[in-house]
Amino acid sequence: MPDRRTCTNGGVPVEIQLTINDEPTTAEVGADDDLAAVLRRNGYTGVKCGCDGGVCGASKVFVDDDVRMACGMDARNADGAEIETIEALGTQDNLHPIQEAFVDRFAVQCGFCIPGMVIEAKALLADDPDPSEAAVREAIDDNPCRCTGYQKPVEAILDAADRLRGGRSVAADGGPAVEPPTRADAGDGGGDADE
Ligand code: FES
Ligand code: FES
Repeated sequence: MPDRRTCTNGGVPVEIQLTINDEPTTAEVGADDDLAAVLRRNGYTGVKCGCDGGVCGASKVFVDDDVRMACGMDARNADGAEIETIEALGTQDNLHPIQEAFVDRFAVQCGFCIPGMVIEAKALLADDPDPSEAAVREAIDDNPCRCTGYQKPVEAILDAADRLRGGRSVAADGGPAVEPPTRADAGDGGGDADE
């Protein structure tokens, strides 16, 4: 459990310089601000705050290419950092292949956990373009989802791996039909991602 508050605002403000999704940004941050709060205040509301700190994974972003839970980072310590949030991956009309796979695989329900999961998936697939199902489950085991039972997100990430390797190209909105899952479809059964 982190030793600081989550998604908090406040304290005497100072200015820090960030590069957020390739945009140089000057942000005013208070002593009590964590990075998640600062990003949300600057319009990056894809960064979610879903727990008391370090548990839900919904605040994941890339900080200098490493996945970090933005809620657990003192905003002042991010001065000079390159940040990538979910907003950098795709748009409604031009989804990133990982996002396309989540849509096509019906892996999004309430959607609250999805930005963190997609960020983690991107990191995983950059390191391991052809992960096993077990590796996918391990990667998202700190991204709890209260809706999907994990099966669909796992299928989506495996599908995204195929797409990114060029195995298939399926548009999320009106493109060729999604092929049936290539791995055994065990249904949605609930439980943890590593079950
Ligand atoms: S708000 Fe950051 S991990 Fe939950
Ligand atoms: S889709 Fe609702 S928490 Fe994951």
